[in-house]
Amino acid sequence: MSIQYCEKCMSFFLHTPNTTYVIGIVNGKYLGHIYYGKKIQNQNLRHLMGVKADPSADNINPGDTGIFYDNFPFEYNFRGIGDFRECALDVHTMQGHHGALCEYRSHRIFKGKPTLKSLPATFGSVAECETLEIELFDPVISLTLTLSYTVFADNDAICRHVRVRNSGSEPVYLDRVLSAHLYLPENAYDVITLHGSWGRERGICRRPVSYGISRAYSSRGVSSHQAQPFIAVMSPNTDQASGEVYAMNLVYSGNFIAQTDGLVNDDVILQIGINPDDFCWKLEPGEYFTAPEAVMVYSAQGLGGMTRTFHDLYRKHLIRGKYKDCKRPVLLNNWEATYFDFNTEKLLDIARSASQRGIEMLVMDDGWFGNRFDDHRALGDWVVNEEKLPGGLPYLVSEVNKLGMKFGIWFEPEMVCPDSDLFRAHPDWAIQVPNRTNTTLRWQYVLDITRPEVLEYVWNRLYSVLSSANIEYVKWDMNRALTNIGSQDLPADRIGEFYHRYTLAVYELQGRLTSEFTELLLENCSSGGGRFDPGMLYYSPQIWCSDDTDAIERLKIQEGTALFYPLSSIGAHVSVCPNHLTGRSVPFETRGHIAMLGTFGYELDITKLSEEDLEMIPKQVEMYHESNDLVRGGDYYRLASYAENHFVDAYMVVSKDKSRALLTMVAVTYRINHRAFLLRLQGLDPIANYYIPAMDSHFTGDALMNAGIFIPSPWAGGDYRSFVWKIERED
Ligand code: DGJ
Repeated sequence: MSIQYCEKCMSFFLHTPNTTYVIGIVNGKYLGHIYYGKKIQNQNLRHLMGVKADPSADNINPGDTGIFYDNFPFEYNFRGIGDFRECALDVHTMQGHHGALCEYRSHRIFKGKPTLKSLPATFGSVAECETLEIELFDPVISLTLTLSYTVFADNDAICRHVRVRNSGSEPVYLDRVLSAHLYLPENAYDVITLHGSWGRERGICRRPVSYGISRAYSSRGVSSHQAQPFIAVMSPNTDQASGEVYAMNLVYSGNFIAQTDGLVNDDVILQIGINPDDFCWKLEPGEYFTAPEAVMVYSAQGLGGMTRTFHDLYRKHLIRGKYKDCKRPVLLNNWEATYFDFNTEKLLDIARSASQRGIEMLVMDDGWFGNRFDDHRALGDWVVNEEKLPGGLPYLVSEVNKLGMKFGIWFEPEMVCPDSDLFRAHPDWAIQVPNRTNTTLRWQYVLDITRPEVLEYVWNRLYSVLSSANIEYVKWDMNRALTNIGSQDLPADRIGEFYHRYTLAVYELQGRLTSEFTELLLENCSSGGGRFDPGMLYYSPQIWCSDDTDAIERLKIQEGTALFYPLSSIGAHVSVCPNHLTGRSVPFETRGHIAMLGTFGYELDITKLSEEDLEMIPKQVEMYHESNDLVRGGDYYRLASYAENHFVDAYMVVSKDKSRALLTMVAVTYRINHRAFLLRLQGLDPIANYYIPAMDSHFTGDALMNAGIFIPSPWAGGDYRSFVWKIERED
C-alpha cells in the first residue's frame, strides 16, 4: 500500500497490494483519470489522458475549451460547462445558474483514514491505510471540492468519498453529488447489476454495456429489494476465475444510482452515488456536504477475485462490534412458527424444545406490543402486551434464560400505524404532504424521524424496552417505502434534503443503539432483504436476507448476496415445508445445508416437527459449531450456479491458510441417466495433499482443481439433495 505524488509528471499513484490507480493534473488545474488496473510502477502515463507527456507542455487550446471539456477523462466531472456526459456534480446558485468547474488547488497524503461525518464508512488504523485528499476549487461560485481516496495494506479495494464546501457568501444548491466517477478507456464491457423484488432479492443481471445510460437505482428511501447500490463492468469473457472486473458498492442505505454511461467514442463512465432525483441540498456559506463512501474494487481474477476482496474488506474494515469476528448464537425465530398468534406459554414451549436440541437463542418477532394482533395496527405503541405476555418481558426473558438460552426481540422503530395510540396522539409525526391522503403500505406510515422530537421518542422507547430485561439481540425491521415526502421542519427549498436526512436519522438511531448496548447483536431487516447494504452492515454484522426461506429459492438469493457481501452477514434460517411462500418441500437436511453457509438458525414451530427432523437439529447445530469459523472467515469460491444452469449449485469456503475447506453441493433437479457431476474445486494449495473423508480418498490440490472430482449422484431418485463435505490438508 502506498500513495505518491510525482511532481515531475504531475500525477498521483495509489497502490494497493495488487492494483494501481493513477490521476493526473493537466494545465495545472484539470484533474484527469489516467489508469486503474493491475499493479504497475510509477511512471509518466499522461498520454493516456490524451495530452502531452511533458506537463509543462500542456496545451489545451484555451480559446476553444468546449471540445476539451466534452472529451477529457475528468476524474470527477461537472454539469454546465460543456461536458455533456453524465456528470458527477451539479450545482446551482441563488440566481438559478447551473455549472461548476473545480480546479486543482492542493493535496495532502497521510496515514490512516478520516471518518465521514454522520455516515457509516470503512475504517482502518494508521498502520493499515493511507489517504489522499485532493482539493479543487471553483473560483466563480467559491465551491471547494475535496476528493478523498484510501488504500489499505491488506486489501485491494480503494474507498473514496467526496466533500463539498460552500466557501462563498451566498447559499448554493447541490442537485447532484455522486460519490464515485470512473472513466474507463475504450473497451468492450459486460455490466452486472442486481435486481429483484420482495421474496426474490438480488438476482444477478449481466448484459453488454451499450451506448447511453444503464442504471440500477432506488427512489424508495431505502436501498430496496429491487436493486443494489452496486455495479460492476468486466471484460466480456470474465468468469469466476479470470477476466478484468471493475466494481463499485455504495456504503449507503437510501436512494442511490449505480450506472454506466456508454459514450459514443466507446469509452465508458462508471458512477455511483445518491440518487439525484428528489435530491437538492441547500448549502449555506461555510457549510459542508459529505457524500457517502464508495468502495471500488478492481480484480484481474474475475468475479471470484472481486467477491473475495469485498468480503475481506467488509469483514475487517466495515463490520464492527462484539460479533464482528465471533460465532453468533444459533437462534430460533418465531415468525414463521406462530406469526401473531403466540403467548408466553407458546414461546416457552418452543424454547424448551429448542434448548434441548442445542439452539441457543429465542427471538420473539412481531406481535408482542400494544394491540398488535395482526399487521393492521399498533406500530409505534412499544409497550408489552400483557394479555399475550403476562409478567411482561422480565418474566419471559428470565424463563428463557433459565433454559440456558439468550433472548432476542423484534422492533420496527421507524413506523407508525394509523390505528395506534401513537398516531392518535401525534398524527403530524407521520411523513406526509398536507391535504393529500397519505399512502399506506402494509397498513402503516413512516415516522418523520428527521424531526428531533420524533427521533427522541423512538430512541426512548427502544431504550426503555431494551433496558427492561436481559435482551441480547434485536431484529430491526423496516417494512415499507417512503412516499408523500413532506416534513414540518423543512422549508420548500430544503424538501430535496428529506431522503438523505431520513437516512442520516436511521444511522443516528442505530449508532446510539450500538454504542449504548455494546453487547447487543443487531440484525437489520426490511421486509426480508429490502435494506441489505454496506451502510447497514456498519451497524449490524448480519442482515435478514429474504422473507423467502424456501431453500431452493435461497440458492439464487444467497448467490447474488454473496457476490459482494460476506457469508457471515447473510441471515439464513431453516423453515418448515411445504414452504409458506412457495409451497415447495425440500428435505430438512438440505434446508440445513443451505442455511449453514449464512448465519444459520431456525424459523419454525419446533414443537410440531417430525421425530426424524427433530433428530437432525442437534447434528446440524454441531456442524454449525464445527464449520462456522470457516464460513465466517474463509475465502468463498463459486463453483456452479443453479441460477445459470438450472440444475446444480456448488460453492466452497477455504480457510485462509488453505488447510481446510467446506464444499457444498445441491443437486436441485434430479437428472435421469446423468452419471455424475464433474466438479473442479478452487482455492486450494496446488501442491498440498488433501483428504476428503466423505469419499475416503486422497488427492493433490492441483488434481482437485484441474481434474476435479467426479461426484456420483448420491441423491438418485429425488430433487433437492445436497451434501456439505469437509476437505482437509494432510501435512
Ligand atoms: C418482515 C420480516 O422480514 C419478517 O421476517 C418478519 O419479521 C415480519 N416483517 C414481521 O412483521
